[in-house]
Amino acid sequence: MISFVGAGPGAADLLTFRGADRLARADIVIWASSLVQEEVLDHASAEAVRHDSAGMTLEDVLAIYQAHPAARIVRLHSGDPTVYSAIGEQIDWCVAQDREYEIVPGVGSLSAAAAAAGRELTLPQVAQSVVLTRLGGGRTAASMPEGETVRAFAAHGSTMAVYLSAARPEQLRDELLDEGRGYPPDTPAVVVARATWPTEIVLTTTVAELPEQIRAHGIRTAALVLVGPALAAAEAPRSRLYDPRYSHGCRRRSSEGSTEGRPIPVEKRRLT
Ligand SMILES: C[S@@+](CC[C@H](N)C(=O)[O-])C[C@H]1O[C@@H](n2cnc3c(N)ncnc32)[C@H](O)[C@@H]1O
Repeated sequence: MISFVGAGPGAADLLTFRGADRLARADIVIWASSLVQEEVLDHASAEAVRHDSAGMTLEDVLAIYQAHPAARIVRLHSGDPTVYSAIGEQIDWCVAQDREYEIVPGVGSLSAAAAAAGRELTLPQVAQSVVLTRLGGGRTAASMPEGETVRAFAAHGSTMAVYLSAARPEQLRDELLDEGRGYPPDTPAVVVARATWPTEIVLTTTVAELPEQIRAHGIRTAALVLVGPALAAAEAPRSRLYDPRYSHGCRRRSSEGSTEGRPIPVEKRRLT
């Protein structure tokens, strides 16, 4: 069995119980030291053979899979393995070779960054969609399908999480603004570098000021940029989910005490 396990954003206690179980039983662990903290490997047994994938190619990794058909192999990917982890090509190999595999979800850097920012990414009437994307161009230009530019998504004004792009902050700002067709310049932005690591950095800024802030803090890698009006601390209309006048499968509505559509003071929202 080959288990593609999400290691979480960094902190060892953000590994799932299932991920820890797979690690504890693994004969072989292949992990990426660039984004996974070594403490996560404490869940593996002392006998498990460990390989750091930082200097390996896909072929190197597949050669290990090939050489150990009966082994329990854990391939540890940062965050959640279904986002920017290059497991698709490994799954294709498993299918072609008739090798059993599974995906163990992980806490993605998106969740960790939003938690560090202390914000909900979706607010009623403000933002109900989250776009996960990255800048095009650079060395991975060929990876970007047409129509998926940051510039194109910026026109929607929803919450956006931009991965793998902190090293090009001017391009990021320019695409987010798109010369007046994208986000307004004062749209809130939060840059979270190394979320949940001891060296975590959280910068609260605006789209216009992203380059200065990112460069001033020397951030280039392992950073997620969150953008959108939901990241503001301003008051927002409350959700209907917990409104007394709104019924759903688990609760009948009551006719009294509705606060639907009424904003909740910021101090109260922070307490919930
Ligand atoms: C190769 S991708 C892996 C994404 C990962 N699968 C996930 O779900 O978070 C690496 C990018 O994810 C983001 N990232 C991963 N870990 C992070 C962390 N602890 N803090 C902030 N961003 C992180 C950064 O944008 C980084 O450039």
